[in-house]
Amino acid sequence: MSKVLVTGGTGYIGSHTVVELINEGFEVVIVDNLSNSNVAVLDGIEKITGVRPAFENIDCVDYVSMDRMFAKYENIDSIIHFAASKAVGESVEKPLMYYRNNLVSLINILQLMPIHKVRNFVFSSSCTVYGQPDVLPVTEDAPIKPAMSPYGNTKQIGEEIIRDTIHAAPASYQSIILRYFNPIGAHSTAEIGELPNGVPNNLLPFVTQTAIGIRKQLQVFGDDYDTPDGSCIRDYIHVVDLAKAHVVAVKRMLQGKSLSNVETFNLGTGRGLSVLEILTTFEKVNEVKVPYKIVGRREGDIEKVWADPTIANEVLGWKATETVEETLRSAWAWEQKLRTQTTN
Ligand code: NAD
Ligand code: WQD
Repeated sequence: MSKVLVTGGTGYIGSHTVVELINEGFEVVIVDNLSNSNVAVLDGIEKITGVRPAFENIDCVDYVSMDRMFAKYENIDSIIHFAASKAVGESVEKPLMYYRNNLVSLINILQLMPIHKVRNFVFSSSCTVYGQPDVLPVTEDAPIKPAMSPYGNTKQIGEEIIRDTIHAAPASYQSIILRYFNPIGAHSTAEIGELPNGVPNNLLPFVTQTAIGIRKQLQVFGDDYDTPDGSCIRDYIHVVDLAKAHVVAVKRMLQGKSLSNVETFNLGTGRGLSVLEILTTFEKVNEVKVPYKIVGRREGDIEKVWADPTIANEVLGWKATETVEETLRSAWAWEQKLRTQTTN
């Protein structure tokens, strides 16, 4: 059985990916320092899959502990590296925290890989590297725009660190860089989902928390953009679709199918939806009202971005299949489940 290390495996995308890996017969080792997740996520994973993955509460910035971990779990074949801090606003206030956490973690792992003979590496990158693309839908070869935040910069620099490292030692590594668009939704069982910390910055958790009454009103940031209804457009992708792409990526490397030592894929649906479209679809499919008001633009927001996922579809052999309706239903079911848990 092939063994995969999943850093950040109790987090939002990581936990959904662990479920898909276990379902496909992989043995999973999770490393997470629980800085933005809860150890109870392991219960959810176990309920869904019947398997409790190995878990180590380790900070990836801690080289010595990571070295010991690799020695303890022999024969790790592949790594999916999710562990990172991801709050854009916080990164502007605490840039060094972001550079240290996101980049030192990455450097440690890349350094330890040849020592422990682990060759396959999947990296969580982001559509944020494209900024506001000149051409839509955006393809993988679109120019990388100057980062809008230290967080975004860690993804750009992270990609470069991976390319330089592999260029210097191609026999020791192969990597797949995955650029996520906007992951939303939760597992269909509602046993795992997104656990936002404090007041959510992202749209969907704010929508679900408003629908359930934790927040009074959603603020729609701007209706004067150059889009059909004036609100911003994004490529929202079901987190389970996203998770499945990671399994495909790991298998691709294990089966020696990669066309080069570093491959980069957009993970999106190819469909752009506006904030107002998300809002009205959410209300319709869940039969619930979401009070909202239109306010001014949020600083740093991109007007519109959606993926061209052709390369992921044709080369990787993966395609997002969930409808937006189903995705928004799953987000609502998860919010309701969370609410029941906290009031019990
Ligand atoms: P998340 O915060 O839910 O998960 C990240 C996990 O990593 C958390 O469980 C956290 O505790 C852990 N972690 C953070 N720093 C760590 C460290 N130094 N050592 C060990 N564990 C650490 O975030 P997510 O939404 O699941 O994102 C996963 C990855 O995908 C991140 O790299 C993020 O930047 C990237 N990404 C996310 C989005 C998004 O919209 N959610 C979009 C593009 C890219
Ligand atoms: C989506 C849309 C908002 C909240 C951010 C990061 C990016 C990536 C994903 C990791 C925008 C609007 C939001 C609200 C609103 N993360 N909105 N009211 O901005 O596309 O990307 O998360 O890499 O790096 O920047 O996602 O969910 O914050 O916003 O109107 O209360 O919803 O203006 O148009 P975004 P988001």
